[in-house]
Amino acid sequence: MALHSLELVTGWKFFRGLQNDWTQSGYDDSSWLSVRLPHDWCVGEKFTPDVPGFARSAWLPQGVGCYRIAVPPAPEFRDLRTVLCFEGVAGKSTVWVNDVEFFGGDWPFAPVEIDLSEVWRADAENRICVRCDQSDTPVCRWYAGAGLFRSVRLEFRAREAELPPDSFFVRTSELTEDHAVLALETNLANRSEKRLALTLRQEIISPDGTTVYDVESPHCVPAKLSVWFDRTVRLEKPLLWSPDSPALYTFRNTLLLAGKIIDRNTVRFGVRKMTYDAETGFHLNGQSVKLNGVCLHNDLGALGAACEKAGILRQLRILKGMGCNAIRTAHNPFNREFLDACDEMGMLVLAELFDEWQEPQLVGASSDGEFLMTTTRYYWHKFDRRAIRDTETIVRRDRNHASIILWSIGNEVKQMYKFSGYEIAGRLQETIHNLDDSRAVTCAVVVGRLDHRNIGLLDVGGYNYPSAGQLDEFHRLHPGQPMLVTECYSAQTRRPLGMYLPAGQLPDTGYHYRESADFIAFFEHMESGLDAWRSAAERPFVMGSFLWTGFDYLGETTPYDYPSHSSYFGVIDLCGFPKDGYYFYRSVWRPEPLVHLAAAWDFSSGERVDVGVISNCENGSIFRNGERVGSWENGERIHFETVDFQPGELRAVGYDRAGREIASDAVRTSSPAASIRLTADSNPSPAPGELVWIACEILDARGERVRNAAPPVTFEVVSNGSLFALDNGLQTSTEPFQNTNLRHACAGRCLAVVRTGEIAGMLKIKAVSPGLSDAVLELPVRG
Ligand code: GAL
Repeated sequence: MALHSLELVTGWKFFRGLQNDWTQSGYDDSSWLSVRLPHDWCVGEKFTPDVPGFARSAWLPQGVGCYRIAVPPAPEFRDLRTVLCFEGVAGKSTVWVNDVEFFGGDWPFAPVEIDLSEVWRADAENRICVRCDQSDTPVCRWYAGAGLFRSVRLEFRAREAELPPDSFFVRTSELTEDHAVLALETNLANRSEKRLALTLRQEIISPDGTTVYDVESPHCVPAKLSVWFDRTVRLEKPLLWSPDSPALYTFRNTLLLAGKIIDRNTVRFGVRKMTYDAETGFHLNGQSVKLNGVCLHNDLGALGAACEKAGILRQLRILKGMGCNAIRTAHNPFNREFLDACDEMGMLVLAELFDEWQEPQLVGASSDGEFLMTTTRYYWHKFDRRAIRDTETIVRRDRNHASIILWSIGNEVKQMYKFSGYEIAGRLQETIHNLDDSRAVTCAVVVGRLDHRNIGLLDVGGYNYPSAGQLDEFHRLHPGQPMLVTECYSAQTRRPLGMYLPAGQLPDTGYHYRESADFIAFFEHMESGLDAWRSAAERPFVMGSFLWTGFDYLGETTPYDYPSHSSYFGVIDLCGFPKDGYYFYRSVWRPEPLVHLAAAWDFSSGERVDVGVISNCENGSIFRNGERVGSWENGERIHFETVDFQPGELRAVGYDRAGREIASDAVRTSSPAASIRLTADSNPSPAPGELVWIACEILDARGERVRNAAPPVTFEVVSNGSLFALDNGLQTSTEPFQNTNLRHACAGRCLAVVRTGEIAGMLKIKAVSPGLSDAVLELPVRG
């Protein structure tokens, strides 16, 4: 971030569609909607069965969205350059500033900078207008968002000289028991027509705020020249960054001209050392770390692709609770806030760049039983023009993030199976190495079609959906190459409707083309997840695996059709509520004893019910109203038992080897819904203007969630906030996420996302439903 920058968060006006003369300064936008960034204008629309982007756009109508903002004069920056920085714009974008047109970018996931110095007015109001055109759909294989879905800021930079953004790099080049050696790479640019005598001050500040390095150096830089220089710094007894202790240092560069500060750039970094070993896997700071990973899309459900940091932090907290220590950013660069959050919370990141190279991905749409194929508009037609430039931009921007441990140059890109892929993979890998030699590069390939020459070229072999036997075979074929499972399981572990059912006993979701039956039969099995986990866990040479996916995400409804708007793949639903699969991963990734009953207990008397138990306990028993009706032993991880239903309680109890009870879970036959409970499900003491997530549960008279309750719930924000979005996690729901205050519960719960007011004070939210006692939640908004 430059010395002077202005985040453009509020003050934006938005209009869906086009108006005459709207880019001109005199245009009256008072009837447009006031919005704040990040903003995804499409996710709040109504689900519509015949949109051109079909399921891939989550059945949401895309198209054109327009934004305008007036930026007040800032005479103090008169002598500086003005640069407009977009973190990414969803849709092909055109920008007008004070009536002058600029190209704003055409790939949502790369940042764009526009130098406005020629048109910016220091002494008068400036008008920025942005048109985002997302009509060429399907944009990609998942929902990509629409509009100014990432942050936008103005930077005011010195005209004479600057510290170019994203040009710093800090690496840990040596790490021993008592010290670290850091390699600092710095760049400063003389933009003027004459030689300048500049002073650079470099500081390193430790996580506790102590300055551990502070050096000033003079630099005589010839006119119009950019100079790079390297330095090494020894740190005694550094605090290391790791998932358990994510200590972050700050590297601050200050540029002075004639004693006056003209630029400043600050990056955070972690002191840590990564090694990748073909026999023993991944090591962080000398310790072996198995990657217990999930794949995610940059998606916050009811918020769409507008991923605010508060929502990302909540996602990470839920994932950490499951024992997850790594995320693969499928299949494009994520926003800065995501990587900042991972740095702060200690989440390892496999940062991926592309889902396509020169050849398009095909996506399927179904209509009346007919299966159609079309190509995405994602990247293939832009690849030759911009792939190397985008790779450089992203690697430069993201390489200081402590959380990133690996780069991925692609996911299931077709050319990785062809002769042409060799040259492309080599070029992309080399481009990354030139900018970052501290991390390895991989590419996620499908194991059905392999070109071993192409795979052998990579630092690390990345395999999607390998069997245990294939892992052994690939290890034999590439003996010196570390490997990991970049994708596994594609979990279909239950929609939020309650219990897990074995394959073949699924409710009809209205999806009728033939391929679905096979797909569901395979993936709905939690046992496939068990096999996938075990095959990576038992092989020390496999660095780890990434489950597809942590959370449900919009757009890839495979194998279902309208009205499903989101994937079913997540072990956590779109609201952030765990599904049964979550407990399986928690049971294998975390040490605490766990028993989870993958069952509801609402049937007709005498009905025979398949009950699933997930556990990491050595032995266990299942009790129906106190009577033992089943058991498991020898550390069985997923156990099924057919039990005759009787109303009351079903309980599963886990024991250790000595027969001591160490964990249990119970489900009870529901009694009538009586009341509502609201619970803060994110930061309990939010800042003004922040989003908070509030879980809403339907309870019976005993205070237990009624798992088959689906009443309508109406929300009202009574004070100091506004309702932003609602969801219930049900993939087939056609209730809109936004611009509504009503949501039906699903499986006895739903979710409200509320924006706190702009001042400190009490946020008060109320939920009502016919026949139930109301709930009120109060949350203090801090000053
Ligand atoms: C993979 C693909 C993912 C997702 C998944 C669904 O092959 O890499 O992006 O589509 O299948 O099962």
